[in-house]
Amino acid sequence: MSGKRIGVGLIGTGFMGRAHTLGFSIAQRSFTLPFELDLAVIADATLPAAEAARRNFGFRKATDDWKSLLTDPEIDVIDITTPNLLHREMALAAIAHGKHVYCEKPLAPTVDECAELVAATEKAGVITQVGFNYLKNPLLSLAKDLIDSGEIGRVTSVRGIHAEDFMADPTVPFGWRLDPLSGGGALADIGSHIIASFRHLVGPISSVLAETVTLVKERPVARGASEMRPVEIDDITRAFVRFESGATGSFEANWCATGRKMQHDFEIYGTKGAIVFSQERMNEIRLFRAGEDIRTRGFTTIWAGPEHPPYGAFCVAAGHHLGFNELKAIEAHEFLNAIATGKRPATDFREGYEVQKVVSACYASARSSSWITIA
Ligand SMILES: NC(=O)c1ccc[n+]([C@@H]2O[C@H](COP(=O)([O-])OP(=O)(O)OC[C@H]3O[C@@H](n4cnc5c(N)ncnc54)[C@H](O)[C@@H]3O)[C@@H](O)[C@H]2O)c1
Repeated sequence: MSGKRIGVGLIGTGFMGRAHTLGFSIAQRSFTLPFELDLAVIADATLPAAEAARRNFGFRKATDDWKSLLTDPEIDVIDITTPNLLHREMALAAIAHGKHVYCEKPLAPTVDECAELVAATEKAGVITQVGFNYLKNPLLSLAKDLIDSGEIGRVTSVRGIHAEDFMADPTVPFGWRLDPLSGGGALADIGSHIIASFRHLVGPISSVLAETVTLVKERPVARGASEMRPVEIDDITRAFVRFESGATGSFEANWCATGRKMQHDFEIYGTKGAIVFSQERMNEIRLFRAGEDIRTRGFTTIWAGPEHPPYGAFCVAAGHHLGFNELKAIEAHEFLNAIATGKRPATDFREGYEVQKVVSACYASARSSSWITIA
């Protein structure tokens, strides 16, 4: 960090590389940042890909060698948006060079590797952030406030799902998301989001009973290829969960849910009310209060607006809708503020480790067909 400038080195220029760039850029224009942001270097596996992204995304330099970011004095933050299996090596190297690290989920394939990452960050004293962006929705902050203030009473039960359909077509070829070395399939990749939401809203999960399903047993090795490769990981995982608070619940992670694009949904029931949310309608949340007049009581729809911070940083009028990239902007802003203040973000590598403990316990439960207690 030179003076009030912070240099970003971004690795990966795909879906998330673009979303992180937009997140930083929108944050820069929406919030008062503690630093002047410098989109310094962008890296990808090939120079043409990195160079094309440099031009589109507005970085100063491009490279096909991510390791060159480690020793670059102009880079303070390494932002990792590469396939899951690469996160650990890149994050450990960045931490070893004293860089702050923003990394996509899932952090690493195993609990031990996540613990190794947490230990490394704590030893180096760097700030980290994981891409659990759905938690950054101002309406999830409202939900958390309502739960913490007792508005819906004691939480008794919870249902959740993270479902998409990008793997429903059996002709989708074998890719990095299906690599068994990545630590899992739908649960590790997208189920980590619903686990993070459960933990955020209801607290630590103490035990799980899970079942995994591999729906598409083999996939073409490449798009249109006749050669097939067996699939060993889960397309669907369903789990019953018990929370430390005594609440119980269930969730599903499913990337073959035909027609579903972003069903990150939950229902939280308490002794005095309930909260219902769907990411496909991310600008509204529904609240039920059991104490209201029985003739008129029912779920009330609350639209996101400036009274739900930090919505007002993006738009002065309620109901005009935030989008996915604003969630990334809130996440990026939280990360930059943490670097300025030294205060850990709620979704740093420690949270990535806690989520991975639940993921791994679900896989262990599915293998043994038994409840697994989470240490
Ligand atoms: N938080 C979220 O909502 C969310 C959504 C989608 C994906 N993700 C996560 O983001 C990560 C990336 O997913 P994506 O959908 O952007 O994938 P993607 O395939 O679109 O992009 C991955 C990028 O990494 C690059 N890459 C691969 N190997 C590299 C190497 N050795 N050096 C430099 N670059 C390399 C690829 O060329 C590509 O540009 C994954 O970990 C995924 O789980 C998170």
